[in-house]
Amino acid sequence: MNKFVLMAAILGILAPAGRVYAAGSAVAGQAKAAVCAACHAADGNSVNSQFPKLAGQNAGYIVQELERFKSGYRKNPIMSGMAASLSDQDIQNLAAWFSSQKVTTGEADPSLVKAGEALYRGGDQSSEIPACLACHGPDGAGNGPMKIPALAGQHAEYVVSQLQAFANGTRTSQMMNPIASRLTPAQMRAVASYVQGLHTTPIQP
Ligand code: HEC
Ligand code: HEC
Repeated sequence: MNKFVLMAAILGILAPAGRVYAAGSAVAGQAKAAVCAACHAADGNSVNSQFPKLAGQNAGYIVQELERFKSGYRKNPIMSGMAASLSDQDIQNLAAWFSSQKVTTGEADPSLVKAGEALYRGGDQSSEIPACLACHGPDGAGNGPMKIPALAGQHAEYVVSQLQAFANGTRTSQMMNPIASRLTPAQMRAVASYVQGLHTTPIQP
């Protein structure tokens, strides 16, 4: 078993069900989210597929990424500027708001869905690619405490752009850099299309 599959297996076993919400105020976050709405939409279900959906995203992951844009660890000219003026409390509130919204799911391309599903659920042993579900979950809900993002319903175009950024190292992630660098362009497109059509099961209160 190679170390990435092993790591994935361990994380998969540890992955608890359900979602953890931030210590922020969703009401205050909704007000603050007015400046985000032009790109991400007021409820986080962005219409333009270049902009990630934030609705239903794990709060801890949203907080982590906003802090990373602010510190420059994750580089994006638009988001560095947006995050620069946010206080720690703003970040908690925005995460509480967007994570409490329901993500809308898209459609998978019928010609890609089989290949995408096989990769998401089973990985690709010949090129040592672990199954995505080991970390991102069988329904694509991710893992809040582990700060693993939800992928269900995410725009395929955005997913491909991030896989390319992980593969060429412009986005740094110990877990995703080695995985993405083994994906072929066709595998990226297929798995991205599959997750765009993936539905999360509703979380029971
Ligand atoms: C002008 C457009 C624009 C605005 C306004 C904007 N964003 Fe973004 N946002 C982006 C783009 C583009 C990305 C993808 C960056 C990348 O490729 O790394 C992004 C990424 C993100 C991510 C990472 C999501 C993920 O799945 O990793 C978060 C979180 C985020 N934005 C939150 C916000 C918040 C909160 C606001 C308002 C305070 C905001 N954004 C305003 C364009 C925008
Ligand atoms: C070992 C655990 C693990 C496995 C396996 C894994 N991921 Fe990830 N993935 C992560 C983590 C952790 C992040 C957050 C990256 C960061 O910013 O540090 C992430 C981030 C992502 C993102 C960025 C999402 C966003 O909102 O910006 C995409 C897309 C993604 N993974 C796709 C995949 C695909 C496709 C596979 C299967 C081929 C996969 N991942 C397998 C752990 C994993």
